[in-house]
Amino acid sequence: MTMDKSGKPYIHALRYSALTGLYDPVVALTTREKTFKRALLDAAGLESGQQVLDVGCGTGTLAIAAMRRVPSLRMHGLDGDPDILERARAKTARSGLEVVYSEGMSFDLPYPDGRFDRVLSSLFFHHLMLEDKLRSFREIHRVTRNGGALYVADWGAPQNGLMRLAFFGIQLLDGFETTRPNVQGKLPELMEQAGFERVRVIRNIPTLFGTMTIYAAHKGHGQPSPVRDA
Ligand SMILES: C[S@@+](CC[C@H](N)C(=O)[O-])C[C@H]1O[C@@H](n2cnc3c(N)ncnc32)[C@H](O)[C@@H]1O
Repeated sequence: MTMDKSGKPYIHALRYSALTGLYDPVVALTTREKTFKRALLDAAGLESGQQVLDVGCGTGTLAIAAMRRVPSLRMHGLDGDPDILERARAKTARSGLEVVYSEGMSFDLPYPDGRFDRVLSSLFFHHLMLEDKLRSFREIHRVTRNGGALYVADWGAPQNGLMRLAFFGIQLLDGFETTRPNVQGKLPELMEQAGFERVRVIRNIPTLFGTMTIYAAHKGHGQPSPVRDA
């Protein structure tokens, strides 16, 4: 397993870098990817000309989908894995859209304060240890402008026993320590600790591997998001 600069395990898209080439088909087949990424983008209220960041962007699927909706976005993607960023750049070039990709860590973002109108993230926070989830939410809060918002799709508190059981598959792949706070439903309180306001669950989506939760969190004044449970 790869370590990051501080000596902590770095969890690649499918845990091991050798599996990264399989990431897109595996996610498409197992996570109801189109449904939950559409729900995330529906919630995010993307508008012409906004500066948008996708944290832990992986192969760029979400960034490309956002650009297809609103081609005038200034879209940025950040990931800690240079190999997956190469894949994201190639995929984005094939789509004919423009996304600026940067290599970096979520808890040390290479952007100035207040840079982004929207920060998005999908299938990412369950890769981080508890303290790094909080550090990353703090960094995201820093780079979000006042009135801006964060929208996250990630594994959340299971809706029922079956969804809890299904989530063991993800825990076996990605590890128990990083995934436990997700399944305990702790992401909203971490967002609040980082300074976000009006944090809420927008939607819960059942999948083959557990409950996928869409969260919204705001910085300062902005439009509250509608609440919906599914
Ligand atoms: C499961 S993938 C999700 C990719 C994409 N967001 C999606 O929805 O398909 C998680 C990504 O997070 C990246 N990653 C893990 N830890 C990171 C960190 N601390 N900072 C930035 N990227 C990180 C991995 O390289 C991987 O590409």
